[in-house]
Amino acid sequence: MAVTFSSRRVRICLATLTTMTSFYVIIVLYMVSYNFLQNENIMATYFVGRGGYQSHRRATQYRIQHNSNCTQKKNFVFIKGMKCATSTLLGVFYRFGYTRNLSFVSPLKQNLWLNWPYPMTLRDFRPSSRGYNILTDHSIYTENVMRSIMPEDTVYISIIREPFSQLKSLFQYFQIAAKAGVPKDVDNPVVEYFTHLKKYESAYKAPGNKERGCIPEGFSLTKNLMSHCHGMPLGFPPGAKDISNDTEAIQSYIKHLDSKFSLIMIREYFYESLILLRRLMCWTLKDILFINYNIAKYAFKTAPVPENILDLHKQWSNADYMLYNYFNTTFWKHVSNQGPEFVSELETFKNMERLVQDYCTKIYTYGKGHSYPVNMSKIVLDETKWNVQFSISSEDCWVLGPNPYDLLHVVQRDNDVKEAHLLAEQNKIPDNRTMKGGC
Ligand SMILES: *[C@@H]1O[C@H](CO)[C@@H](O)[C@H](O)[C@H]1NC(C)=O
Ligand SMILES: *[C@@H]1O[C@H](CO)[C@@H](O)[C@H](O)[C@H]1NC(C)=O
Ligand SMILES: *[C@@H]1O[C@H](CO)[C@@H](O)[C@H](O)[C@H]1NC(C)=O
Ligand SMILES: *[C@@H]1O[C@H](CO)[C@@H](O)[C@H](O)[C@H]1NC(C)=O
Ligand SMILES: *[C@@H]1O[C@H](CO)[C@@H](O)[C@H](O)[C@H]1NC(C)=O
Ligand SMILES: *[C@@H]1O[C@H](CO)[C@@H](O)[C@H](O)[C@H]1NC(C)=O
Repeated sequence: MAVTFSSRRVRICLATLTTMTSFYVIIVLYMVSYNFLQNENIMATYFVGRGGYQSHRRATQYRIQHNSNCTQKKNFVFIKGMKCATSTLLGVFYRFGYTRNLSFVSPLKQNLWLNWPYPMTLRDFRPSSRGYNILTDHSIYTENVMRSIMPEDTVYISIIREPFSQLKSLFQYFQIAAKAGVPKDVDNPVVEYFTHLKKYESAYKAPGNKERGCIPEGFSLTKNLMSHCHGMPLGFPPGAKDISNDTEAIQSYIKHLDSKFSLIMIREYFYESLILLRRLMCWTLKDILFINYNIAKYAFKTAPVPENILDLHKQWSNADYMLYNYFNTTFWKHVSNQGPEFVSELETFKNMERLVQDYCTKIYTYGKGHSYPVNMSKIVLDETKWNVQFSISSEDCWVLGPNPYDLLHVVQRDNDVKEAHLLAEQNKIPDNRTMKGGC
């Protein structure tokens, strides 16, 4: 059986590239990457940046040295949920695909989602004359549609998070309490909401609640959101089957997911998750480097919550707790199957990641368009048992971050140009969807 896990997080209507800085980033990326894209070898192992690439020889050496004889996997679907570090991962996946000239199932126009929170349809993405390798933008796991467009050997992955901490994060990010009319002066808006759950939930879901922004009427972010994103039938869209009261049906859907997904990562164990991902995909440690994105600080993040409120949420979001408990358990089983070397690799990666974050944070603070001091032009990461020596340059930092959505928009612009003909054809066919996600 394939191993597994999943994830999600939704950013809606945000991440618009409005600043001149972002625009500049894109132009530079475009120009730099164009040159690099010409060279297959470089594309194969590295991301854009001077001094940044690993030669073919070294890649071979890497395989021999580490006695791993697997082939890098390039076709995958990542179910991007909400508030589970998924934008951070999105950055990793766009970098991986973009620097290798892979093809994305790319949202239309400048959208960030593939019909989320509705199931995905064949009408939600840009056409591609060369098929697809990667699907990583917000989508509901829509099995038949995804299977029909992705290659046969596609790997399914995602990430999930402890449900109550995800709930708090959703409340903060989507301002759920305000939309439901929770008074501003309460100590803890989540506790207040769940103390009068019926009242606030119906206010939040009320038809005509214009405050809801991009989230359709009849849909709730407070209940079983992770399960919904994994395609569990929970009564949305309206009229759909709802198995939320049927424990057995939920269990059997979870088992089904386990058979389809090769890895469901766990937000609480992010580094371990990434090492599992690397091993599963046969990528390098450099491929999984990340820059944190979208981590919020807010008062009720760590405030104590009464036991009865936690219990209430466990009943309310029952499927998510079952999903989390199941995959948290399988996650650790999977880790223990990795053998003792896992910890060594984990520590190596944490150390590498810390150096890169420190360095890139300085670069971001300096800003773009500067000539950096000579001693800041790059950092060199020493060879270890788990990686060949490589360097990260200031240019690499601007590909790693700070905004993971920059590359998404570059891919969309590329598609506008390269697939203009197909796009025009697609646009001629009337869009007859009755349920359109997003804004
Ligand atoms: C990217 O790949 C496509 C086909 O897979 C190829 O036609 C195109 O030339 C490649 N682009 C670059 C810049 O290498
Ligand atoms: C690696 O795989 C190839 C083809 O699958 C095989 O020919 C080769 O012997 C393998 N090398 C090692 C070191 O296992
Ligand atoms: C699930 O059970 C609750 C409480 O008994 C009930 O209000 C709700 O309508 C049920 N939902 C479904 C889909 O059967
Ligand atoms: C996840 O699993 C680990 C290992 O069994 C356990 O220690 C931890 O408490 C679990 N997390 C949650 C939130 O249940
Ligand atoms: C670079 O050199 C300057 C002074 O020459 C020093 O203040 C700074 O800390 C150095 N930066 C790094 C990253 O070593
Ligand atoms: C919508 O259009 C597709 C083709 O683009 C067609 O197959 C489908 O039947 C249409 N649906 C409706 C409800 O008209």
